Amino acid sequence: MPSLNDIRSTFLNFFEKNGHAVVDSSPLVPRNDPTLMFTAAGMVQFKNLFTGVETRDYTRATTAQKCVRAGGKHNDLDNVGYTARHHTFFEMLGNFSFGDYFKEDAIPFAWDLVTKELGINKDKLLVTVYHTDDEAVNIWKKHAGLSDDRIIRIATDDNFWSAGPTGPCGPCTEIFYDHGDHIWGGPPGSPEEDGDRFVEIWNLVFMQYEQFEDGSRIDLPNKSIDTGMGIERVAALLQGTNDNYATDLMRALIEASADASSTDPDGPGKTHHRVIADHLRSTSFLIADGVMPSNDGRGYVLRRIMRRAMRHAHLLGAKDPLMHRLVPSLVQQMGAAYPELQQAKTLIEDTLLSEETRFRQTLDRGLKLLDDEVSGLDEGGQLAGEAAFKLYDTYGFPLDLTQDALREKGMTVDTDGFDAAMAEQKAKARAAWSGSGEAADAAIWFDIAEEHGVTDFLGYDTETAEGQIKALVVDGASVASADAEVQIILNQTPFYAESGGQVGDSGTLTTGSGTVRINDTKKAAGVFIHTGRVTQGNVEVGQAATLKVDHDRRTAIRANHSATHLLHEALRNALGDHVSQRGSLNAEDRLRFDFSHNSALSLDEIKQVEAEVNTYIRQNSSVETRIMTPDDARALGAQALFGEKYGDEVRVVSMGSEAGSGKGTAGDTYSLELCGGTHVERTGDIGVFVTLGDSASSAGVRRIEALTGEAAFAYLRDQDHRVAELSQTLKTKPEDLQDRITALMDERKALANEVADLRRQVAMGGGAKSDAPVEIGGVPFLAMVLDGVTGKDLPPLIDAQKEQHGSLAILLIADTGGKAAVAAGVTKDLTDKITAVDLVKAAVPVLGGKGGGGRPDMAQGGGADASKADEAIAAAKAVLEG
Ligand code: SER
Repeated sequence: MPSLNDIRSTFLNFFEKNGHAVVDSSPLVPRNDPTLMFTAAGMVQFKNLFTGVETRDYTRATTAQKCVRAGGKHNDLDNVGYTARHHTFFEMLGNFSFGDYFKEDAIPFAWDLVTKELGINKDKLLVTVYHTDDEAVNIWKKHAGLSDDRIIRIATDDNFWSAGPTGPCGPCTEIFYDHGDHIWGGPPGSPEEDGDRFVEIWNLVFMQYEQFEDGSRIDLPNKSIDTGMGIERVAALLQGTNDNYATDLMRALIEASADASSTDPDGPGKTHHRVIADHLRSTSFLIADGVMPSNDGRGYVLRRIMRRAMRHAHLLGAKDPLMHRLVPSLVQQMGAAYPELQQAKTLIEDTLLSEETRFRQTLDRGLKLLDDEVSGLDEGGQLAGEAAFKLYDTYGFPLDLTQDALREKGMTVDTDGFDAAMAEQKAKARAAWSGSGEAADAAIWFDIAEEHGVTDFLGYDTETAEGQIKALVVDGASVASADAEVQIILNQTPFYAESGGQVGDSGTLTTGSGTVRINDTKKAAGVFIHTGRVTQGNVEVGQAATLKVDHDRRTAIRANHSATHLLHEALRNALGDHVSQRGSLNAEDRLRFDFSHNSALSLDEIKQVEAEVNTYIRQNSSVETRIMTPDDARALGAQALFGEKYGDEVRVVSMGSEAGSGKGTAGDTYSLELCGGTHVERTGDIGVFVTLGDSASSAGVRRIEALTGEAAFAYLRDQDHRVAELSQTLKTKPEDLQDRITALMDERKALANEVADLRRQVAMGGGAKSDAPVEIGGVPFLAMVLDGVTGKDLPPLIDAQKEQHGSLAILLIADTGGKAAVAAGVTKDLTDKITAVDLVKAAVPVLGGKGGGGRPDMAQGGGADASKADEAIAAAKAVLEG
C-alpha cells in the first residue's frame, strides 16, 4: 500500500521521465497574483507563463503544490472535520505545459499514470468533459477506450476552470473514481452527485483563454495544460478507503492529537481530531510562509483557523495548549518534502503556543456566554447578531468559530445582526478618531482603510510582488487615474513603510499602462501610502501592479537596522543597563542611535563598542524572527522600543549567540529586540561597522552615528588615504605620524617664541641699547613710542629695560595700526614715589582711552588714537614733575 509520500514521488518521477522540470512548491502567499488570498492550485505560480508575460528555460513542469482553501474564492473551512474530503490545507500534484503539449498528450499522460503507475482499476474510472469539447471525448475514447456512458458531458462551470476572477482559464476534463454501490451517491451531473460514491481525483484544464475584469476573454498566445490531483484523495483510494482522514499521513496526525490529549482517536472526539489534524497543517504551513495571526486580511484567516482548532482541542478536554505539541509529528510526516517546515519549526511552535495560551484565557467565559444565550433556543434557532458580535469583540471568537460551535446544536447565527453590530462599532471608532485632533488630511487614509481594508505587508520575505491598486490620491483627493505626482494604495505590498526608525522603501511600480517611480512609503490608519511620480503613461484604480523595491537601498537599510540592534547591546555591555534606546534612524547611508547616558563616551569606550559589534558581525549567525505576546517577549528579556505601541503580538528579532564569545552562558542570544523592521539574514551581511563618533542629543541623551557595509568601507578607505597623503607630505611612515606631528608642533612653538623675541628687539632699535633715561622729579624716566609690536610685547620689554637700568620708571606706547597700547613699569625702589598705575592713568585719557590699571610696578591700558602718543608722554612727565 503506497504511502502518501510514495505517491508524491511516483507522480513527480513519472512526469520527470516525460521531460518535465520538477519545480518546488511556491509559497502559500502568492507573490504574483494580488487577486488571490492564498495559493489554492498548482497553476498559481505559473500564471505569467500561461499568459506569455514570462518565459523560463522549461516548457513542461511538474509540482507538488501546497494549497490553502480558506478565505477568498475557494473556502472549505466550514466543512472541515465533518466530511471525508474537505481540507483547509492540501497538496495538489500537477503537470503543466506552457505552449508545449495540449489535450492529445495530457489525457494519455493522466490515463497512463492513473492506471499503470498507480495501478488504479480502470473499470472503476469515469470522466467528465465540457459539453462542447468533442475533441476531448474522442481522445478519451481512443486512448482510454472509454465507452460513451463513462464520458459525461457537463455544461456548467464545474468543467470550466479559473483560478480567480481574472487570468488564464479554460474547459476541463475530470477523472472520477467509483467507490462502489455500498456508498451513497451518483455520477457527476446526477442529482445524487454530492454523495461520496463518485470522487473526483484529477482535473485536467485545457488552458486556452485569459479572462479580464470586465468579463471579456482573449485566446492565450499558446494553448497550455494545467492539471491538479489532490494527493489526499488518491492516497485514500490507493489505501482502500474513501476517507482522506484515514490515510497514513492524516492518521499519524490524528493519533498525535489523540496521544497529546489522552483520548481515543476514534471515540467521541473523532471530529475534533480531524479538525485539529487539518488545521495543524494549514496553520503550520502558513506560519512557515510568513503569515502571522492578526486581526486583518490573511493574518485573520490564519487566526480563525487556529482558534477553530483550539476550540476543538478544548472540547477534547485538553487542559493546556495542545496544538504546538503536534508540530514535531507534522514535521516528521512532511518535513522531508517541505524543508521550510523544518526550518520554521520553532516559529510555528512559539506562535501556536502564544495564540492558544491567550485564547484560552477568554475561551471558557465565551463558551459560557454562548451557552447562556442559546439555552432558551430550540434546535434550528438563531443566535442574536449582537451576542455573536460580543463573542467576537470581547472573547476573541471569530464568527465562524461561533457558527461551528452552534452547528453541533443545529443552530445558526443572525449574520445580518452581526454585520450591523460590527458596522456600528466601526462608526463609533471613527467618531472617536475624528475628535482626537489628528491631522484632518489623514481622514482620507481612514476612509480608504475602512473601504478597502489595511495593506498586507509582504516585504519580510520578498522585494518584488504584485498588488492591486485600491486607491489613488492626488492633492489630498481620491482619483480614478493619475499621470503625475500621486500617492498609491494597494491591497498588498513588499514596500516597507517608515516606522520604528527605519525609513520607507523606494522603488518602481508598473501596471499595464504606466510606470511610477516610488520615492517614499509611509503608513497611516494601517494603509501603506506609496508616494511617487508617474514617469510613463498612467495608472488606474483596479489595475494589477508589479512592485519592485530598490534592492541596493533596501540592502543597505537592512544592514544599518541590524547593526543598530547590535550597537544597542554593545552599548549596554560597555556602559551599563541604564542604556536604553531613545530614538533611531536607519537610512540607506547611515544609522543614528540615541540612547540614555549622561556623559560623553571615551575613545576607549567607543573602541570597545565598535570591536564588539564587529565581533558579532563576523560571528555571522542567522537573524531569527519570532512572534509572541509582548509579555512573553519581555519575560525573555527583549528590549522594547521607546515610545512604540505594541499590539497583541510582537515580532521579536534575535541575533548573535554569546556562546564562544567569552560572555554569558553558551547558547545565550546576544541581542533580542521587539522590532517590526526588516533585517539581514545573517549578521555577516552587515559587513563592517564603524562609528562616526558620539555627540550630545539632548539632556541625558547621547547620539552615535555610524556606518555599515559599503559606506563603512568607503569611509575607512578615505581615512586611510588621508593618512597616506599626510605621511607623504610629512615625509614619514604612518606609524610615526604622531611623533612627527608632536615634534613639528614643539618646533613651531619654539620658533614662535624666537620670532616674538626678534620682533621686540627690532622694535627697540635693532637690538641696540635704547635711549637713556632722563631725571624728572628725582626719578629716572624713559618713554618710547614703538612700531611693529603689540600690547602683549610691552611687559617683557619693560622688564628688560628695568633690569638693564636697575632703577627706572618707564612708559611704552605701541602704535598698533593707529590704535595705542600703553604699558608702564616702575622698579620697586621707586614705587613709593610714583607707581606704574599713575603713569598709565595719565597717558590713557590722552590716547582717547578709558581706565587702565595693574600693579604699582607694572600697569597697562590702551586708547583709540596713537597719534596722540607724544602728548600722552607729556602728560606722564607732568605727573612725575608733580
Ligand atoms: N487548476 C486546476 C485545479 O485547481 C487544475 O490544476 O483544479
